[in-house]
Amino acid sequence: MALSKPFKILVTHPEIPAFAIKKLMQRCELVVCPEVPYSTRDQILSRVTPDLDGILWLSKHRMDKEVLDLAGPKLKVVATMAVGYDNIEVAEAKSRGIKVGNTPGVLDAAVAEIALCLLLEIARRVPEGRNSILEGRWEAVRPQWLLGKDIRGSTVGVVGLGNIGLSIVKRLLPFEIGKFIYTGHNRKPEGDKLGGTFVSFDELLQQSDFVIVSCPLTPESKFLFNAQAFAKMKESAILVNIARGDIIDQEALVSALQNGKIWGAALDVMSPEPLPADHPLTKLKNCVLAPHLGSATEKTRGDMAMLAVDNILAALDGKQMPAPL
Ligand code: GLV
Repeated sequence: MALSKPFKILVTHPEIPAFAIKKLMQRCELVVCPEVPYSTRDQILSRVTPDLDGILWLSKHRMDKEVLDLAGPKLKVVATMAVGYDNIEVAEAKSRGIKVGNTPGVLDAAVAEIALCLLLEIARRVPEGRNSILEGRWEAVRPQWLLGKDIRGSTVGVVGLGNIGLSIVKRLLPFEIGKFIYTGHNRKPEGDKLGGTFVSFDELLQQSDFVIVSCPLTPESKFLFNAQAFAKMKESAILVNIARGDIIDQEALVSALQNGKIWGAALDVMSPEPLPADHPLTKLKNCVLAPHLGSATEKTRGDMAMLAVDNILAALDGKQMPAPL
């Protein structure tokens, strides 16, 4: 049967914002995975067919060789609706001449807001306080009750000063932090401009009151935060992770939090996701958790969807993608 539209695209999730899907539909026939909250890998694979021109990938599953083999040589583009692409085999796709795009930039502010939200919650013990109200244990007349950590005057260390890391620092500076340090592969002019000092990973661990993880997950950063790293941190330190769960060895984190090796942690990302409700992290008073809400605002998700669609359409037209990998 002849297609009425020139391109066929697989969309791996049914809840991509409608205006972005509408734009894609003007020129493409769509196959949409209908399962919520998400499709299994097999459900996605069953819809990867050799007549696809593109895939809009919104899934925690890996977009790998198996997917590319099923799609075959007609596939021209894969657009992931995320900034992180640790689940996308970019090199494999590119070696086959397939263009790959992600959604950087449009979510920096939203993710930075979540970082601040979590940092404030753990530093000022807000979830613990709320629980004490619910449990009828409001003890605020006691002057030493639920005392938190000051952001003002503190040393903030950022691991991975990309656009998201910079957005977090810009939002923290008005809190009158004492010092901003960062680590990564290279010293960054943007970091210097904000008054930051480039340090080694160990120096950052030793000096920081707040350690913020905003680097990509790579083989190098997997389990970067392990028992040895926690042993180097201050006992009064707070760890905030808005990047990827696997950057932290979670067993080591649980034990660091239980044994007072560090003071607290706030995580928007965990391993696995979803985290089982009875996971030890959920039992710890000094750990604040959010279910990967970094980019979850109405506008941001719309902007991400539009960027993913624009990546697909540009690639199909043989033009430069707005956000190529
Ligand atoms: C979210 O985690 C993203 O990578 O966009």
